[in-house]
Amino acid sequence: MKHKKRILTGVTTSGSPHIGNLVGAVLPAIEASKSEETDSFLFLADYHSLIKNHDPQLTHNSSLEVAATWLSCGLDPKKVTFYRQSDVPEIMELAWVLGCMTAKGLLNRSHAYKAAVANNDQEGSADLDRGITMGLFNYPILMAADILMFNADLVPVGNDQKQHLEMTRDIANRFNHHYGKIFTIPEDQISDDAGIIPGLDGRKMSKSYRNVIPIFTDKNNLGKLIKRIKTNSLEPGQPKEPSTCNLFKILKAFGTPIEIEDMRRSYEEGLGWGKIKEVLTEIVDNKLSPFREEYQRVISDRHHLETTLNEGAEKARGAAAPVLKRVRDAVGIKSFN
Ligand code: TRP
Repeated sequence: MKHKKRILTGVTTSGSPHIGNLVGAVLPAIEASKSEETDSFLFLADYHSLIKNHDPQLTHNSSLEVAATWLSCGLDPKKVTFYRQSDVPEIMELAWVLGCMTAKGLLNRSHAYKAAVANNDQEGSADLDRGITMGLFNYPILMAADILMFNADLVPVGNDQKQHLEMTRDIANRFNHHYGKIFTIPEDQISDDAGIIPGLDGRKMSKSYRNVIPIFTDKNNLGKLIKRIKTNSLEPGQPKEPSTCNLFKILKAFGTPIEIEDMRRSYEEGLGWGKIKEVLTEIVDNKLSPFREEYQRVISDRHHLETTLNEGAEKARGAAAPVLKRVRDAVGIKSFN
């Protein structure tokens, strides 16, 4: 039998999912999971969320919201392995073993850590490590464990995660070189920046920029948020350029080909920004409203959600156990008889 390509990706549970997550990660991953050639592992990186966020309610709610989002947008938990990172203790165990094969110097070079140090430096702090936790420092090791635990072939992530994948490969190669070939060396699949939708201020939509449009908000609020998106000051009647316009980028992610063409014409004809925003609100709302109804149904049945995640954890642990056994044997931690 041909080896199915194993695709794995995680979502840090530290906020409510936004439409950038939807079109950039959730829908493409669900689409990829439908192929017979792939075997998908999708998980809630809840232990990763503790790195930046110490609010238990936020971690918990976000876990629930992210789980309900994936399930209401068409993920079939029978076809994929869908689980919470924290339900698979094998990952934590592997993280320790990997940490013992990871040079501290490698982690010193991590962009996230270096940015935090640079920030302290800029603020004139005598202690450059001020406020930096071991969680932040070790973040790439936990992520490597997430990936190597399941021998993933392909890891779809945003551009900001590219270095973490490089570090994962470094760690895996070092382990394999010393102990024998245990781990698959994963490839990254970086989403194309051109497809990334802009946030309210024109930068990439990201919860850390507070410029997001949540997926599951009502139409009224959606309209209000879309009204806040920055445009230029061209007046109604003046032709507008779609290719550089933030509204048009969102439209392209949500509209049908006909809607996109119609809008292109309206730009040329000089439709006013106010009207363009109204049309965009309709189009985005049409696309989101079926997901919204399904989301309400999914999130109101906590019992079913919990059962689904427990079943996912069982599948994930079934896949993780033999890998962890091989790792423990390889490093010499095994029974005496
Ligand atoms: N660090 C990723 C992010 O913030 C989330 C993540 C955690 C992840 N573990 C992973 C992604 C493993 C891919 C594979 O986006």
